Amino acid sequence: MIMIKKMFGTALLLGMLFAGCGEAGKPGEKAVDMATAAPGISETDWGTADGKPVKLYTLTNVNGTTVKITNYGGIITSWVTKDKAGNLGNVVMGFDSLSSYQQASPYFGAIIGRYGNRIGKGTFAIDGTTYKLAANDGPNHLHGGPKGFDKVVWDAQPDTTGGNTSLILTYLSKDGEEGYPGNLKVKVVYTLNDGDGLVMDYSAETDKPTVVNLTNHSYFNLSGDVSNTILNHQLQVNADKYTPVDATLIPTGSMVDVTGTPFDFRTPFKIGDRIANVEGGYDHNFVLDRHSTGMELVATLYDTISGRQLEVITTEPGLQFYSGNFLNGSLKTPDGKTIVKHGALCLETQHFPDSPNKPDFPTTLLKPGEKYSTQTIYKITVRL
Ligand code: GLA
Repeated sequence: MIMIKKMFGTALLLGMLFAGCGEAGKPGEKAVDMATAAPGISETDWGTADGKPVKLYTLTNVNGTTVKITNYGGIITSWVTKDKAGNLGNVVMGFDSLSSYQQASPYFGAIIGRYGNRIGKGTFAIDGTTYKLAANDGPNHLHGGPKGFDKVVWDAQPDTTGGNTSLILTYLSKDGEEGYPGNLKVKVVYTLNDGDGLVMDYSAETDKPTVVNLTNHSYFNLSGDVSNTILNHQLQVNADKYTPVDATLIPTGSMVDVTGTPFDFRTPFKIGDRIANVEGGYDHNFVLDRHSTGMELVATLYDTISGRQLEVITTEPGLQFYSGNFLNGSLKTPDGKTIVKHGALCLETQHFPDSPNKPDFPTTLLKPGEKYSTQTIYKITVRL
């Protein structure tokens, strides 16, 4: 049984009030129920990894939306929000135990780093020095290596100052970890706002030149029921171009016009409409049509069954649309439903894959004295 350890913000106050009204002998349990209904953050023990305590945090806003995040991998384990009928449902793939993530997870909900997406042949050079990383995806390096930021225990600090509902995660990736140069101090702040946006602020600093590309790997199924695949979801992406890939999913280096291709999502399309024309399914980086260096709405996903929509707002130049092609029915949701191929999809805001080897792509190089800083918001509401 999981015990509430701490509550922050209004959740603390209401949790204490309602705990007093709970069934005799079960005050803790009652507090959990009530805490999830009140805005704020609560924290429960979730086991240990690498000898460090792992916690599960529940962020709740005024609408009763709850996002659960663990400091193991910075993983978003669930996101429960209302559909058009007012019924609550979980719209992301996740598990209800730490061990499930440790056994087998295709990066469900995790923070990805030091380099999200692929680096061709696992090699790159900075200032004439070649770095060799693990090939953990065929011949290539994927998502930071065998033990990327998705599998480490982050330091976590809830922050409810000034009415925030935030979780501050920090991690020091040591010089040489997974083959990357430089001590990298990383900070990711998740904030659940009252507009049902989950704001993700990523920042990092290094003491040697290195490459950085941080993202979140949430798998969405807006219907709240994984028995419906995402092939009926409608997607719109502000991208005139995409980066075609070779057979191992490394960009060829060109940026191709989407006109007349299944990659043209400038107007909304059902994902299933043209997926048969994309070998292997969608797993491509879109070159976002940006007008500034600030936050812009770049993609909208809509599910007619539930009426929910996801808006993706970001400072990043790229978006990896992955249509859950490698999901194969081997994993189940906590309520026992099988997660089939195309059961969920990812919209990963990022710099382009293999940028360290592609001089024409926006740079992912971070030098000492510079600050890496990006922001992405996933906002899930009901379309009116
Ligand atoms: C990313 C990649 C995919 C796949 C998934 C994880 O989205 O682009 O090819 O590796 O992660 O399964």
